[in-house]
Amino acid sequence: MKALGLISRPPVGGTHSNFTWVKAHRPKPKKDQISLQVKATALNVDDAHIAEGTAFGGIPMGLPKPSSKKPLILGMDVSGIVDAIGEGVTDFRVGDRVFGVIYPWNRLGGMAPYCCAKVNQFHPLPKDWNFQDGAAMGVAGATACATLKILGDLTNKRCVVVGASGSIGSILVQALSKSNTSEVIGICSAANVNYVMSIGANRVIDYNTGPWGDLIAQGGEKTVDLIIDCIGGKDTEIEALKLLNKDGHFVTLCGPVRFFGDEQTSVASLMKIYTHLITRMLFSRFKGPKYTLTYGTLPDWKMIQETLIDNDIKSTIDNIYAYSEEGVEGAFKRLQSHRNRGKIVISSNEAQ
Ligand SMILES: NC(=O)c1ccc[n+]([C@@H]2O[C@H](COP(=O)([O-])OP(=O)(O)OC[C@H]3O[C@@H](n4cnc5c(N)ncnc54)[C@H](OP(=O)(O)O)[C@@H]3O)[C@@H](O)[C@H]2O)c1
Repeated sequence: MKALGLISRPPVGGTHSNFTWVKAHRPKPKKDQISLQVKATALNVDDAHIAEGTAFGGIPMGLPKPSSKKPLILGMDVSGIVDAIGEGVTDFRVGDRVFGVIYPWNRLGGMAPYCCAKVNQFHPLPKDWNFQDGAAMGVAGATACATLKILGDLTNKRCVVVGASGSIGSILVQALSKSNTSEVIGICSAANVNYVMSIGANRVIDYNTGPWGDLIAQGGEKTVDLIIDCIGGKDTEIEALKLLNKDGHFVTLCGPVRFFGDEQTSVASLMKIYTHLITRMLFSRFKGPKYTLTYGTLPDWKMIQETLIDNDIKSTIDNIYAYSEEGVEGAFKRLQSHRNRGKIVISSNEAQ
C-alpha cells in the first residue's frame, strides 16, 4: 500500500512539510489482532513530538527514527472498517465499524489506508457517530477517563479545568458538568469563552484578563476541590495552589513544562522535571493538596462507553484535513499552534 510517511525528522517546532508517499507493507492481523481499512485519523500533540524525536522531552524511549528504509507512519487515533481478523478474535467481524488507539509509541501507523493492532485497542463505533467522531475520541477520551478515575468521587466538588477548550479539556468539562459536581470553571482564551460555556461550564475565565487563581479566589478563601491541568507549566501549579483547599487535588496531564515535548530538553532539565514530579507526588500525599500526574494507559473502553458515549459526550472537531501532503502539513501546523478547539482530524473525502 502507499501511505503518507516520514523518511526524516521534521525540525523541532518547525513546519512538518516533509510528509511523502511511501511504499508500506499492508499489515496482516496476527493472533488477537484486527486490521482496519482506515477512514479517519486524529492528531495528538505526541504525534508531532514523536516525529521530531522530542516526545517526553527527547529521552531515548525507543522512539522510532524515520529513514528511507523504514519510513515512519504516524497516527494513534483511528477509525475505520474491520477488513480482516486474526486467530482468536471473537469480539469483531469483518465489516464492523470501529474506532481505537494504536499503541505503543514505536508501532504507530494509523495514518495509512490500512492499519493493524490488538483487538483490545478498539471499540465499536456508536451507531450515530461518523468515522471522524470516532477518530476524535481515542486518546482524548482515554486520557479524560484516566483523569476522571484519579479524581474519584465528584460529589459537590468545585472544579477548575485549565485548557478547557482543548481536546482533552473539552471532554473533561462535559463529563464534569454532567456529573454531580457543584461547579465547573473553565480556563481558556477569550476566543473560546462562549464555546466552553456551551459545553457545560458554569463559569469561564479568560486567562489573559489576569492570573486566574486571583480572579477565582477573590477574598483569599481556598474553596476549590479539584484542578485539572491540561496544558502544563509551573505557573499553572502556582495559580492552582492559590485556590485548592488542603484536601484538594491537582491532577496534571503535563507536569511543570507547558506542552512538554515542544522543545528538545537537556538531560539536566529532564532530571529537574522528573525530580519535580516525583517529589511533588510523594510529599503532597503527606501535606495536601495532592498532586498527581495522569499517564496514558490502554483505554478503559467500559468507562469510555458508560461515562462518555452513553452520556452523549463527543469530542469537538476543530477541523478536518484531507489525507494529502498539503492536508497533513496543514493539520500539523494547526496542532503545533496549540489553538485548536478540540480535535484535528485527517480523513479521506468519502469517510462518513
Ligand atoms: N498524561 C497523559 O497521559 C497525556 C495523554 C495525552 C495527552 N497529554 C498531554 O495533555 C496536553 C493536552 O493535550 P490536548 O490533546 O488536550 O491538547 P490540545 O488539544 O492541543 O490543546 C489545545 C488547547 O490548549 C489551549 N491552550 C493553549 N495555551 C493555553 C494557555 N496558556 N492556557 C490555557 N489554555 C491554553 C488552547 O486554548 P486557547 O486557544 O483558548 O488558549 C487550545 O484549545 C498535551 O500537553 C499532551 O501532551 C497527556
